[in-house]
Amino acid sequence: MITLSVIKADTGGFVGHSAVHPRLTAEARREIERAKSSGLLVDGHVESCGDDISLIMTHTYGPEAGLIHSFAWDTFQATTHIAKDLGLYGAGQDLLSDAFSGNLRGMGPGYAEMEFEERPSEPVLCFLADKTEPGAWNLPLYKMFADPSNTAGLVIDEKMHAGFAFEVYDLCEDRRIVFDCPAELYDMLMYIGAPARYVVHGVRSKTLGTTAAATSTQRLSLIAGRYVGKDDPVMIVRCQSGLPAVGEALEPFAFAYSVAGCMRGSHHAPIMPVPVGQAHPSRFDGPPRVVALGFQIKDGRLVGPRDMFDDPAFDGARRQATEVMDYLRRHGPFEPHRLPLEDLEYTTMASLTRRLSHRWTPITTEVATPAGLR
Ligand code: 13P
Ligand code: 13P
Ligand code: MG
Ligand code: MG
Ligand code: MG
Repeated sequence: MITLSVIKADTGGFVGHSAVHPRLTAEARREIERAKSSGLLVDGHVESCGDDISLIMTHTYGPEAGLIHSFAWDTFQATTHIAKDLGLYGAGQDLLSDAFSGNLRGMGPGYAEMEFEERPSEPVLCFLADKTEPGAWNLPLYKMFADPSNTAGLVIDEKMHAGFAFEVYDLCEDRRIVFDCPAELYDMLMYIGAPARYVVHGVRSKTLGTTAAATSTQRLSLIAGRYVGKDDPVMIVRCQSGLPAVGEALEPFAFAYSVAGCMRGSHHAPIMPVPVGQAHPSRFDGPPRVVALGFQIKDGRLVGPRDMFDDPAFDGARRQATEVMDYLRRHGPFEPHRLPLEDLEYTTMASLTRRLSHRWTPITTEVATPAGLR
Protein backbone atom coordinates (compact mmCIF):
# COMPACT_ATOMS: atom_id res chain seq x y z
CA MET A 1 0.00 0.00 0.00
CA ILE A 2 1.15 3.51 -0.80
CA THR A 3 -0.09 6.76 0.72
CA LEU A 4 -0.39 9.98 -1.26
CA SER A 5 -0.50 13.06 0.98
CA VAL A 6 -1.01 16.61 -0.22
CA ILE A 7 -0.40 18.98 2.71
CA LYS A 8 -0.64 22.75 2.21
CA ALA A 9 -0.30 26.01 4.07
CA ASP A 10 -0.07 29.74 3.46
CA THR A 11 3.10 30.75 5.28
CA GLY A 12 3.36 34.22 3.77
CA GLY A 13 2.28 35.96 0.57
CA PHE A 14 4.37 37.72 -2.11
CA VAL A 15 3.06 40.38 -2.80
CA GLY A 16 0.02 40.67 -0.51
CA HIS A 17 -1.88 37.38 -0.91
CA SER A 18 -0.98 36.77 -4.57
CA ALA A 19 1.90 34.29 -4.71
CA VAL A 20 4.62 32.34 -2.88
CA HIS A 21 8.12 33.85 -2.92
CA PRO A 22 10.63 31.60 -4.75
CA ARG A 23 12.83 31.40 -1.64
CA LEU A 24 10.02 29.66 0.26
CA THR A 25 9.46 27.18 -2.54
CA ALA A 26 13.21 26.48 -2.71
CA GLU A 27 13.34 25.86 1.05
CA ALA A 28 10.38 23.44 0.86
CA ARG A 29 12.09 21.61 -2.03
CA ARG A 30 15.29 21.26 0.02
CA GLU A 31 13.28 19.78 2.90
CA ILE A 32 11.53 17.34 0.56
CA GLU A 33 14.89 16.21 -0.85
CA ARG A 34 16.20 15.67 2.67
CA ALA A 35 13.12 13.63 3.60
CA LYS A 36 13.59 11.48 0.49
CA SER A 37 17.25 10.85 1.34
CA SER A 38 16.40 9.93 4.92
CA GLY A 39 13.82 7.41 3.68
CA LEU A 40 10.82 9.18 5.25
CA LEU A 41 9.32 9.85 1.82
CA VAL A 42 9.29 7.63 -1.22
CA ASP A 43 8.92 10.74 -3.38
CA GLY A 44 7.85 14.35 -3.13
CA HIS A 45 7.05 17.42 -5.15
CA VAL A 46 6.50 21.06 -4.19
CA GLU A 47 4.09 23.35 -6.01
CA SER A 48 2.18 26.49 -5.19
CA CYS A 49 -1.17 27.97 -6.13
CA GLY A 50 -1.53 31.63 -5.19
CA ASP A 51 0.03 32.20 -1.76
CA ASP A 52 -0.25 28.54 -0.66
CA ILE A 53 2.56 25.97 -0.77
CA SER A 54 1.62 22.33 -1.32
CA LEU A 55 3.81 19.39 -0.38
CA ILE A 56 2.83 16.45 -2.59
CA MET A 57 4.30 13.33 -1.01
CA THR A 58 4.25 9.55 -1.32
CA HIS A 59 5.13 7.33 1.65
CA THR A 60 4.11 4.15 3.44
CA TYR A 61 2.86 5.51 6.78
CA GLY A 62 -0.86 5.87 5.96
CA PRO A 63 -3.11 8.92 6.35
CA GLU A 64 -2.78 11.20 9.41
CA ALA A 65 0.69 9.80 10.19
CA GLY A 66 2.51 11.73 12.90
CA LEU A 67 5.89 11.47 11.14
CA ILE A 68 4.58 12.88 7.87
CA HIS A 69 2.48 15.60 9.46
CA SER A 70 5.30 16.73 11.73
CA PHE A 71 7.63 16.84 8.72
CA ALA A 72 5.13 19.12 6.93
CA TRP A 73 4.72 21.26 10.06
CA ASP A 74 8.48 21.68 10.43
CA THR A 75 8.80 22.56 6.74
CA PHE A 76 6.09 25.22 7.07
CA GLN A 77 7.88 26.57 10.17
CA ALA A 78 11.05 26.88 8.09
CA THR A 79 9.27 28.70 5.24
CA THR A 80 7.55 30.97 7.79
CA HIS A 81 10.99 31.88 9.13
CA ILE A 82 12.08 33.02 5.66
CA ALA A 83 8.73 34.80 5.12
CA LYS A 84 9.33 36.80 8.31
CA ASP A 85 12.85 37.64 7.18
CA LEU A 86 11.49 38.97 3.86
CA GLY A 87 8.54 40.71 5.53
CA LEU A 88 6.10 38.73 3.38
CA TYR A 89 2.42 39.32 3.99
CA GLY A 90 0.76 37.14 6.62
CA ALA A 91 3.94 35.22 7.50
CA GLY A 92 2.86 31.96 9.14
CA GLN A 93 -0.78 32.80 8.34
CA ASP A 94 -2.10 29.21 8.39
CA LEU A 95 -0.05 27.96 11.35
CA LEU A 96 -2.66 28.49 14.04
CA SER A 97 -1.04 26.53 16.84
CA ASP A 98 2.24 27.14 18.68
CA ALA A 99 3.27 23.52 19.05
CA PHE A 100 2.82 20.32 17.07
CA SER A 101 0.96 17.51 18.83
CA GLY A 102 0.46 14.22 17.00
CA ASN A 103 -1.05 15.33 13.69
CA LEU A 104 -2.19 18.45 11.83
CA ARG A 105 -5.88 18.12 12.65
CA GLY A 106 -7.16 21.50 13.79
CA MET A 107 -3.73 23.14 13.48
CA GLY A 108 -4.29 25.17 10.30
CA PRO A 109 -2.50 23.45 7.39
CA GLY A 110 -4.91 21.62 5.08
CA TYR A 111 -4.40 18.06 3.89
CA ALA A 112 -5.92 15.55 1.48
CA GLU A 113 -4.61 12.00 1.86
CA MET A 114 -5.38 8.57 0.48
CA GLU A 115 -3.92 5.09 0.87
CA PHE A 116 -4.29 2.55 -1.93
CA GLU A 117 -2.85 -0.50 -3.64
CA GLU A 118 -0.95 0.90 -6.61
CA ARG A 119 -2.31 -0.35 -9.96
CA PRO A 120 0.06 -1.28 -12.84
CA SER A 121 -0.68 2.20 -14.16
CA GLU A 122 -1.79 4.75 -11.57
CA PRO A 123 -2.77 8.15 -13.01
CA VAL A 124 -3.65 10.73 -10.33
CA LEU A 125 -4.57 14.39 -10.44
CA CYS A 126 -3.71 16.78 -7.61
CA PHE A 127 -5.89 19.89 -7.66
CA LEU A 128 -4.69 22.97 -5.73
CA ALA A 129 -6.91 26.04 -5.30
CA ASP A 130 -6.42 29.53 -3.91
CA LYS A 131 -8.92 32.14 -2.67
CA THR A 132 -11.70 29.69 -1.95
CA GLU A 133 -12.96 27.09 0.54
CA PRO A 134 -13.18 23.25 0.70
CA GLY A 135 -16.81 23.19 -0.46
CA ALA A 136 -15.54 24.48 -3.81
CA TRP A 137 -14.80 20.83 -4.72
CA ASN A 138 -18.46 19.76 -4.21
CA LEU A 139 -19.67 20.71 -7.69
CA PRO A 140 -16.77 19.17 -9.65
CA LEU A 141 -16.85 15.98 -7.53
CA TYR A 142 -20.57 15.61 -8.16
CA LYS A 143 -19.95 16.02 -11.88
CA MET A 144 -16.97 13.65 -12.02
CA PHE A 145 -18.53 10.83 -10.01
CA ALA A 146 -22.30 11.21 -10.38
CA ASP A 147 -23.21 13.18 -13.50
CA PRO A 148 -23.35 11.11 -16.70
CA SER A 149 -23.45 14.31 -18.77
CA ASN A 150 -19.92 14.97 -17.52
CA THR A 151 -18.60 11.44 -17.12
CA ALA A 152 -19.44 9.12 -19.97
CA GLY A 153 -17.91 6.22 -18.03
CA LEU A 154 -20.80 6.22 -15.55
CA VAL A 155 -22.92 4.90 -18.42
CA ILE A 156 -20.50 2.99 -20.64
CA ASP A 157 -17.83 1.62 -18.26
CA GLU A 158 -19.03 -1.54 -16.56
CA LYS A 159 -16.79 -0.85 -13.54
CA MET A 160 -18.37 2.57 -12.98
CA HIS A 161 -22.00 1.73 -13.68
CA ALA A 162 -22.82 0.79 -10.05
CA GLY A 163 -21.79 4.27 -8.93
CA PHE A 164 -19.80 5.78 -6.09
CA ALA A 165 -20.14 6.40 -2.35
CA PHE A 166 -19.65 10.00 -1.20
CA GLU A 167 -18.57 10.79 2.34
CA VAL A 168 -19.90 14.23 3.33
CA TYR A 169 -18.87 16.27 6.37
CA ASP A 170 -21.11 18.73 8.18
CA LEU A 171 -18.53 21.31 9.24
CA CYS A 172 -20.90 23.10 11.63
CA GLU A 173 -21.93 20.05 13.64
CA ASP A 174 -18.73 17.95 13.34
CA ARG A 175 -20.54 14.91 11.94
CA ARG A 176 -20.40 12.88 8.75
CA ILE A 177 -22.61 10.74 6.50
CA VAL A 178 -22.06 8.46 3.51
CA PHE A 179 -24.39 8.77 0.49
CA ASP A 180 -24.81 5.82 -1.88
CA CYS A 181 -24.94 7.31 -5.39
CA PRO A 182 -26.75 7.30 -7.75
CA ALA A 183 -29.54 5.92 -5.49
CA GLU A 184 -29.24 8.74 -2.94
CA LEU A 185 -28.01 11.42 -5.31
CA TYR A 186 -30.94 13.79 -4.84
CA ASP A 187 -30.68 13.48 -1.04
CA MET A 188 -26.97 14.31 -1.24
CA LEU A 189 -27.43 17.31 -3.53
CA MET A 190 -29.76 18.87 -0.97
CA TYR A 191 -26.73 19.05 1.33
CA ILE A 192 -23.68 19.55 -0.86
CA GLY A 193 -25.46 22.31 -2.78
CA ALA A 194 -24.70 24.30 0.40
CA PRO A 195 -20.90 24.12 0.21
CA ALA A 196 -20.17 26.57 3.05
CA ARG A 197 -21.39 23.91 5.49
CA TYR A 198 -21.51 20.49 3.78
CA VAL A 199 -18.30 19.32 2.14
CA VAL A 200 -17.45 16.13 0.25
CA HIS A 201 -14.52 14.61 2.14
CA GLY A 202 -13.95 11.56 -0.05
CA VAL A 203 -15.37 9.33 -2.77
CA ARG A 204 -15.08 5.52 -3.06
CA SER A 205 -15.77 3.22 -5.97
CA LYS A 206 -18.54 0.76 -5.12
CA THR A 207 -17.30 -1.76 -7.68
CA LEU A 208 -13.56 -1.57 -6.94
CA GLY A 209 -14.04 -0.97 -3.20
CA THR A 210 -11.17 1.51 -3.22
CA THR A 211 -10.71 5.21 -2.64
CA ALA A 212 -11.20 7.43 -5.68
CA ALA A 213 -11.00 11.01 -4.37
CA ALA A 214 -9.98 12.85 -1.22
CA THR A 215 -10.20 16.53 -0.23
CA SER A 216 -8.90 18.82 2.48
CA THR A 217 -11.99 19.52 4.51
CA GLN A 218 -11.30 21.80 7.47
CA ARG A 219 -12.46 25.40 7.81
CA LEU A 220 -9.77 27.71 9.21
CA SER A 221 -12.29 30.17 10.61
CA LEU A 222 -14.03 27.38 12.54
CA ILE A 223 -10.66 26.39 14.04
CA ALA A 224 -9.48 29.89 14.85
CA GLY A 225 -12.88 31.41 15.65
CA ARG A 226 -11.98 34.42 13.51
CA TYR A 227 -11.00 35.22 9.93
CA VAL A 228 -7.52 33.96 9.11
CA GLY A 229 -7.74 33.83 5.32
CA LYS A 230 -9.54 31.29 3.18
CA ASP A 231 -8.74 27.58 3.41
CA ASP A 232 -7.57 27.32 -0.18
CA PRO A 233 -8.31 23.60 -0.47
CA VAL A 234 -6.55 20.71 -2.21
CA MET A 235 -7.99 17.53 -3.74
CA ILE A 236 -6.67 14.22 -5.08
CA VAL A 237 -8.50 12.26 -7.79
CA ARG A 238 -7.39 8.83 -9.04
CA CYS A 239 -8.22 8.19 -12.66
CA GLN A 240 -8.94 5.53 -15.34
CA SER A 241 -9.84 1.81 -15.17
CA GLY A 242 -13.14 1.99 -13.30
CA LEU A 243 -12.56 5.59 -12.19
CA PRO A 244 -13.16 8.77 -14.19
CA ALA A 245 -10.82 9.18 -17.17
CA VAL A 246 -8.35 12.05 -16.80
CA GLY A 247 -10.42 14.10 -19.25
CA GLU A 248 -13.61 13.37 -17.27
CA ALA A 249 -11.96 14.54 -14.04
CA LEU A 250 -10.83 17.79 -15.68
CA GLU A 251 -14.07 18.49 -17.57
CA PRO A 252 -16.01 20.15 -14.67
CA PHE A 253 -13.43 22.96 -14.70
CA ALA A 254 -14.30 23.88 -18.30
CA PHE A 255 -17.11 25.82 -16.58
CA ALA A 256 -16.02 28.77 -14.41
CA TYR A 257 -18.55 28.04 -11.66
CA SER A 258 -19.02 30.42 -8.78
CA VAL A 259 -17.30 29.83 -5.43
CA ALA A 260 -16.99 31.70 -2.13
CA GLY A 261 -13.67 33.42 -1.48
CA CYS A 262 -11.87 36.08 -3.54
CA MET A 263 -11.32 39.45 -1.79
CA ARG A 264 -11.16 39.08 2.02
CA GLY A 265 -12.70 35.62 1.64
CA SER A 266 -16.06 37.35 1.51
CA HIS A 267 -17.20 37.33 -2.12
CA HIS A 268 -18.67 35.00 -4.71
CA ALA A 269 -16.44 34.83 -7.75
CA PRO A 270 -15.80 32.41 -10.64
CA ILE A 271 -13.07 29.81 -10.31
CA MET A 272 -10.47 30.03 -13.08
CA PRO A 273 -8.55 26.90 -14.21
CA VAL A 274 -4.96 27.96 -14.96
CA PRO A 275 -1.48 26.60 -15.64
CA VAL A 276 0.88 26.90 -12.66
CA GLY A 277 2.49 30.03 -14.12
CA GLN A 278 -0.84 31.88 -14.01
CA ALA A 279 -1.88 30.83 -10.51
CA HIS A 280 -1.40 34.31 -9.05
CA PRO A 281 -4.77 35.89 -8.21
CA SER A 282 -4.35 39.66 -8.23
CA ARG A 283 -7.55 41.32 -9.50
CA PHE A 284 -9.65 41.89 -6.35
CA ASP A 285 -7.46 39.10 -4.95
CA GLY A 286 -9.03 36.85 -7.56
CA PRO A 287 -10.58 35.42 -9.46
CA PRO A 288 -10.01 32.24 -7.41
CA ARG A 289 -7.60 29.85 -9.16
CA VAL A 290 -7.33 26.11 -9.56
CA VAL A 291 -4.36 24.20 -10.95
CA ALA A 292 -4.26 20.48 -11.78
CA LEU A 293 -1.01 18.51 -11.56
CA GLY A 294 -1.06 15.12 -13.25
CA PHE A 295 1.22 12.30 -12.11
CA GLN A 296 1.69 8.65 -12.94
CA ILE A 297 2.65 6.90 -9.72
CA LYS A 298 5.05 3.98 -10.18
CA ASP A 299 6.45 2.10 -7.17
CA GLY A 300 5.53 5.20 -5.20
CA ARG A 301 7.49 7.49 -7.51
CA LEU A 302 5.70 10.62 -8.70
CA VAL A 303 6.30 10.57 -12.45
CA GLY A 304 5.45 14.11 -13.48
CA PRO A 305 3.86 16.52 -13.02
CA ARG A 306 2.03 17.51 -16.15
CA ASP A 307 0.41 20.93 -15.88
CA MET A 308 -3.05 19.79 -16.96
CA PHE A 309 -4.79 23.17 -17.41
CA ASP A 310 -1.96 24.32 -19.69
CA ASP A 311 -4.29 23.59 -22.59
CA PRO A 312 -6.00 26.15 -24.87
CA ALA A 313 -9.15 24.05 -24.52
CA PHE A 314 -9.56 25.77 -21.11
CA ASP A 315 -9.25 29.27 -22.64
CA GLY A 316 -13.06 29.40 -22.81
CA ALA A 317 -13.35 28.88 -19.04
CA ARG A 318 -10.68 31.51 -18.43
CA ARG A 319 -12.57 33.97 -20.66
CA GLN A 320 -15.82 33.09 -18.92
CA ALA A 321 -14.19 33.67 -15.51
CA THR A 322 -13.06 37.12 -16.61
CA GLU A 323 -16.54 38.00 -17.89
CA VAL A 324 -18.29 36.71 -14.77
CA MET A 325 -15.77 38.61 -12.64
CA ASP A 326 -16.66 41.84 -14.49
CA TYR A 327 -20.35 41.16 -13.97
CA LEU A 328 -20.10 40.30 -10.26
CA ARG A 329 -17.68 43.16 -9.48
CA ARG A 330 -20.24 45.67 -10.66
CA HIS A 331 -22.41 44.68 -7.68
CA GLY A 332 -19.78 46.22 -5.38
CA PRO A 333 -20.86 45.63 -1.76
CA PHE A 334 -24.17 43.99 -2.74
CA GLU A 335 -25.12 40.33 -2.74
CA PRO A 336 -24.75 38.01 -4.57
CA HIS A 337 -21.16 39.28 -5.06
CA ARG A 338 -20.69 39.88 -1.35
CA LEU A 339 -21.45 36.77 0.72
CA PRO A 340 -24.65 36.68 2.79
CA LEU A 341 -24.20 38.01 6.34
CA GLU A 342 -23.99 34.58 7.99
CA ASP A 343 -21.13 33.51 5.68
CA LEU A 344 -19.13 36.74 5.78
CA GLU A 345 -15.63 35.98 6.99
CA TYR A 346 -15.25 39.28 8.72
CA THR A 347 -17.68 42.03 9.25
CA THR A 348 -18.33 45.31 10.98
CA MET A 349 -21.82 43.99 11.83
CA ALA A 350 -21.16 43.43 15.56
CA SER A 351 -19.99 46.96 16.26
CA LEU A 352 -22.64 48.36 13.91
CA THR A 353 -25.32 46.43 15.81
CA ARG A 354 -24.11 47.90 19.11
CA ARG A 355 -23.85 51.43 17.74
CA LEU A 356 -27.26 51.47 16.07
CA SER A 357 -29.23 49.32 18.53
CA HIS A 358 -31.03 52.28 20.17
CA ARG A 359 -32.08 53.65 16.75
CA TRP A 360 -33.99 50.58 15.59
CA THR A 361 -37.69 50.80 16.49
CA PRO A 362 -40.64 48.57 15.60
CA ILE A 363 -42.12 49.49 12.24
CA THR A 364 -45.55 50.00 13.87
CA THR A 365 -44.31 52.83 16.18
CA GLU A 366 -43.34 56.36 15.22
CA VAL A 367 -39.83 56.71 13.87
CA ALA A 368 -37.42 58.12 16.45
CA THR A 369 -35.49 60.58 14.33
CA PRO A 370 -32.01 61.21 15.77
CA ALA A 371 -31.66 64.72 17.23
CA GLY A 372 -29.09 65.75 14.65
CA LEU A 373 -31.40 64.85 11.74
CA ARG A 374 -34.53 66.65 13.01
P1 13P B 1 -6.28 6.68 -26.75
O1 13P B 1 -6.71 5.83 -27.91
O2 13P B 1 -5.63 7.99 -27.21
O3 13P B 1 -5.43 5.91 -25.78
O4 13P B 1 -7.60 7.13 -25.94
C1 13P B 1 -8.33 6.20 -25.19
C2 13P B 1 -9.45 6.80 -24.44
O5 13P B 1 -10.32 6.09 -24.00
C3 13P B 1 -9.49 8.27 -24.16
O6 13P B 1 -10.58 8.62 -23.33
P1 13P C 1 -5.62 33.83 1.49
O1 13P C 1 -6.45 32.86 2.31
O2 13P C 1 -5.23 33.25 0.17
O3 13P C 1 -4.44 34.31 2.29
O4 13P C 1 -6.53 35.07 1.14
C1 13P C 1 -6.89 35.94 2.17
C2 13P C 1 -7.60 37.15 1.73
O5 13P C 1 -8.26 37.77 2.55
C3 13P C 1 -7.51 37.60 0.34
O6 13P C 1 -8.18 38.83 0.12
MG1 MG D 1 -2.52 34.77 2.36
MG1 MG E 1 -4.24 31.47 -0.13
MG1 MG F 1 -5.76 30.99 2.85
